[in-house]
Amino acid sequence: MSIRYIDNKLCIGQESIELEGIVGNSSQPLYAYDWDEIMERLASFRAAFKSEPEVHYAVKANANPEILRRFAQMGIGADVVSVGEILQALNAGFPAGKIIFSGVGKTREELEFAITEEIEQINVESLQELERIADIAKRLGKRARVGARINPDVDPDTHPYITTGFRENKFGMDPSFIPELLAILEANRQHLDMKGTAIHIGSQLLDVDCIVEAVEKTIPIYQKFQRHGFELETFDVGGGLGVNYHDCDNSAVWDRIRNYGALLSDRLQGLGCRIFCEPGRILVGPAGVLVSEVQYIKRSPFKNFAILNTGMHHILRPSLYQAYHRILPLLQKTDSAEEVYDVVGPICESSDVLGKDRKLPRLEPGDFIAIADAGAYGFSMASFYNAHRFPREILVEQGKWKDVSQFTSQVEGFRWLLNSTYFPAGFP
Ligand code: LLP
Repeated sequence: MSIRYIDNKLCIGQESIELEGIVGNSSQPLYAYDWDEIMERLASFRAAFKSEPEVHYAVKANANPEILRRFAQMGIGADVVSVGEILQALNAGFPAGKIIFSGVGKTREELEFAITEEIEQINVESLQELERIADIAKRLGKRARVGARINPDVDPDTHPYITTGFRENKFGMDPSFIPELLAILEANRQHLDMKGTAIHIGSQLLDVDCIVEAVEKTIPIYQKFQRHGFELETFDVGGGLGVNYHDCDNSAVWDRIRNYGALLSDRLQGLGCRIFCEPGRILVGPAGVLVSEVQYIKRSPFKNFAILNTGMHHILRPSLYQAYHRILPLLQKTDSAEEVYDVVGPICESSDVLGKDRKLPRLEPGDFIAIADAGAYGFSMASFYNAHRFPREILVEQGKWKDVSQFTSQVEGFRWLLNSTYFPAGFP
């Protein structure tokens, strides 16, 4: 559990550091990540399997350079979806030989870079992509290691925007593609090294059975490639395990991780393959919070609005998926009456709502609140829309914290702002 109240003050980390202390005098929104919690989650995830899987952290979940650097140092791999993410991974110290490249729209330049760098595996999502890879590898005189991402047609119970393994989703290849896939592989044996199969059926999955079903549907496909003389090695089960956004009781999540590891180990045992997995949210989601200052309380005849200095530009999940995140004041005012608020951001969009009809102790301008479980798909989905500054980023570890703020490529296009005399030094 990453955050909890001690003496009515919201604290983070095993040693319970007060978030108010981290905020200090700054009113700039901040993300705080609990490294100890991330480590605990990674250990539980690995331990759930009968023999250790090869973890490839999904960089898109949280690409903070310090977090990536630490993962790389531990020897785990990275799952990436663009040349930008390959660069983020390489810069953080992941060896090319431990990077898996997924994604439906890989460009020629991206593939050329990945093949030149000899990354571990390119998970191919279409026949045309496989042909493109073969052409590039031939031209470069290289052999590209590929996996076939299968669309197993399962319909997990999650938000439709984060379902990927249903037949109507753009991801992966329908089994009907296999004869042609085999033909392309056959014709390009010199340039394509067929390593394995891959799936990723969606994110925030609370039902392990549908992941198991997808694995079961993919095993015969793996075997089919083997029968055609390809020496497959890797079975990539993707990511997708969900977390509990509604309260801090994680017992069901731990049970789910154990169940997931046990069932997948059992199903894949007979194949004698290396198990690749690509967890993102389950490792970092509950380990992060976004802290923000209340700017105004607007009481209209119809609604109370708590207006923050953070919003959909820093945490898009509530606006995009109507996702629920707990909203907690940094200081618990025990004697104060409760009020119902729409907790909103400053962005000029009516969808910039972080929590609708939330019952909270009466808030005042200048109060600070935390948006819980924001470690995954928080900062990584932040944008420069409306040109607000990005949040600071803080890493907490064993009772200490340090600033690990990043200026990602998102601000590169706005270099002129950095040079502008209008903004205070250090912006954004
Ligand atoms: N592997 C692949 C190929 C993926 O596309 C993803 C996530 C993962 C692994 C990691 O999935 P995870 O273990 O984190 O569920 N922005 C959405 C989530 C989108 C996930 C996209 N793909 C959200 O905020 O809920």
